[in-house]
Amino acid sequence: MSTSPGADATAAPSGHPLTEDEVRRLREDFPILRADVHGHPLVYLDSGATAQRPLAVLDAEREFATTLNAAVHRGAHTLAAEATEVFEDARATLARFVGADEGEIVWTSNATEALNLIAYSMSNASLGRGGSAADRFRLGEGDEIVTTEMEHHANLIPWQELAARTGATLRVIPLDDDGALRLDAAAEIIGERTKLLAFTHVSNVLGVINPVDTLVAAARAVGALVVLDACQSAPHLPLDVRTLDIDFAVISGHKMLGPTGIGALYGRRELLEAMPPFLTGGSMITTVTTTAAEYLPPPQRFEAGTQRVSQAVALAAAIDYLSDVGMPRIAAHEAELGRHLVDGLTAIEGVRVLGSGIALPRVGLASFDVEGIHSHDVGQFLDDLGIAVRVGHHCAQPLHRRLGIISSTRASTYLYTTRAEVDAVIDGVSRAIEFFRRGA
Ligand SMILES: Cc1ncc(COP(=O)(O)O)c(C=O)c1O
Repeated sequence: MSTSPGADATAAPSGHPLTEDEVRRLREDFPILRADVHGHPLVYLDSGATAQRPLAVLDAEREFATTLNAAVHRGAHTLAAEATEVFEDARATLARFVGADEGEIVWTSNATEALNLIAYSMSNASLGRGGSAADRFRLGEGDEIVTTEMEHHANLIPWQELAARTGATLRVIPLDDDGALRLDAAAEIIGERTKLLAFTHVSNVLGVINPVDTLVAAARAVGALVVLDACQSAPHLPLDVRTLDIDFAVISGHKMLGPTGIGALYGRRELLEAMPPFLTGGSMITTVTTTAAEYLPPPQRFEAGTQRVSQAVALAAAIDYLSDVGMPRIAAHEAELGRHLVDGLTAIEGVRVLGSGIALPRVGLASFDVEGIHSHDVGQFLDDLGIAVRVGHHCAQPLHRRLGIISSTRASTYLYTTRAEVDAVIDGVSRAIEFFRRGA
């Protein structure tokens, strides 16, 4: 059984990319990376969709289920108390990882639910719930919600629906021809009417790291709430919610070595305290009569029903794993792979790497369009070589439409990705072009 990462976090200075040896050793912790697909060793380049899990994470979930399984915050029995303790320890682990306090972390089933939690809490506030403390969350005609054209649908549709329910207007920061956020337009759009600004830290299509400082400063200047979609940043970059000065952030556990079924919302304490609940039911109340209920303080106010305890415990093991390797080193490793990926793909005739002209730092993720070949055909060809990539619109149809395409192929790395695997996808795309052109 392996419980610690193959990489020795103390062996190299902070921010130094992982060495080939370190990557090779830590890959041993991920059994699935030894799989064969169609007679080829698996080259997994779809971590942007979901990451693979190390043994430490698989073991943590199994260990909980085999020794501690019980519902938390309820029973008076020993197992329930112990389960509650590890559940709350997991919350503390995630809080430390993102620079928050324990009471500022709410467990959800994924990032999508966390974003809907904010949106539905705000529409409940708009219906008058939460008393005067919830004034900041109330929306109505004349108020504006601002998001961007590059968002994952999970950070767009909840705001469309919130606007429809409350009469507020949704405004969208446009992209330039390369796909970069138009900060000149953002400065005009974010104004006195803006009540909330929601944007992604790292684009799940372009891989660029957005200028959080500039956008947060614009929102702060008009007193708007800031929601950061950290799904594609928290797994790959050091992230500190206080330094970023954001009000809310959302993450998905399965994108950061954890299991599916667990995500989280970070919310600034005073905001969570003032926000009315989204889901209601058991575990989130103090007193209930047949006509009314009083609610627990956060985070429990937002955690209705039986909780995902083994998933939270496994996510904490994932965070420990990432922290042991070191987020600055993971970020440096992936920045290097990302540059190699973009350079290699850009050099192939007929390949357009989306957003490659954007002068922003990027993570190890790139999407591309191959002239005259549908992304599904590219993906199928690569799969035949054992290379797993994502094809389609990646839940970002407005971004694709803005760039004049309906789909693309996306390769995304993680700490366990080798340079040879990036070479494999670059070579695979060249071969795909050769194959389809010959057939044409
Ligand atoms: C940027 C971004 N936001 C939100 C999500 C939604 O995450 P989930 O489906 O785990 O809720 C994703 C998932 O791909 C994403 O990449």
